[in-house]
Amino acid sequence: MFSKIFGKKQNKQKTLLGRETVLANKELLPCHIAIIMDGNGRWAKKRALPRIAGHHEGMKVVRKVARIADDLGGIKVLTLYAFSTENWKRPKNEVEYLMSLPEKFLSSFLPELMERNIKVIMMGNKDGLPKHTQNVLNDAIEKTKNNTGLILNFAMNYGSRDEIVHAMKVILTNVNDGKLSIDEVDEFTVNQYLMTSALPEPDLLIRTSGEVRLSNFMLWQLAYTEFWFTETLWPDFDEPTFLEAIHAYQKRNRRYGGLKGEGKN
Ligand code: FPP
Repeated sequence: MFSKIFGKKQNKQKTLLGRETVLANKELLPCHIAIIMDGNGRWAKKRALPRIAGHHEGMKVVRKVARIADDLGGIKVLTLYAFSTENWKRPKNEVEYLMSLPEKFLSSFLPELMERNIKVIMMGNKDGLPKHTQNVLNDAIEKTKNNTGLILNFAMNYGSRDEIVHAMKVILTNVNDGKLSIDEVDEFTVNQYLMTSALPEPDLLIRTSGEVRLSNFMLWQLAYTEFWFTETLWPDFDEPTFLEAIHAYQKRNRRYGGLKGEGKN
């Protein structure tokens, strides 16, 4: 059971998966993959580098993972937890570096995103981000808004509790103003008030670095998501590991509270 949610420990005997393995079951590719990219700091520490070196390396992996998700063809949404509402507690220089990453990433990668027909979106409290970060994100969102391929969704200044509280406030205001009746408030309605209202729920959640928790990430949306954890640190996350996670997902039997065999896979 444990190895079902936890990728096998990296060792020399590990068989490296190729794309053909997951493409053999293309209809079972996850439509939406969400990733908690963890372990940048430990990766840097192991090399006696500053933590920001780990984040820089992590950014390069974002590029690789976006390319693979796009190449595979059946994945519609890739959501990446890039900065949480709790990450402001980190040292000032680290926060500043994390806030400069969208700029670093998009200044070199935006042309390729356009070529690949990838649409950039973000979820989180955008107003709370520094102006320069907002500007670069707004620019990428605007330039890619008509792209129809993979959706690359950055969770920036995102916290699931914050999102739910905000949704509740808007729902209550609408009820108060007579725009919505209490009887209309059901799961579907709540979904409409979340930042992910236009997206399908994640099918697969990946968390790297050996931590096995959700850290305030998509608590509502992950209700029926398949989880997959790996000890690999995010900067070391490579194509075979990504394919291993997808392959593990393809072997799961999703029941959504029903009986075996009723789900999509
Ligand atoms: C958690 O690792 C990681 C983050 C808080 C930042 C993740 C950001 C990236 C991977 C790059 C994002 C790229 C763009 C383009 C926005 P940690 O620092 O907590 O690692 P540790 O637990 O080992 O200290």
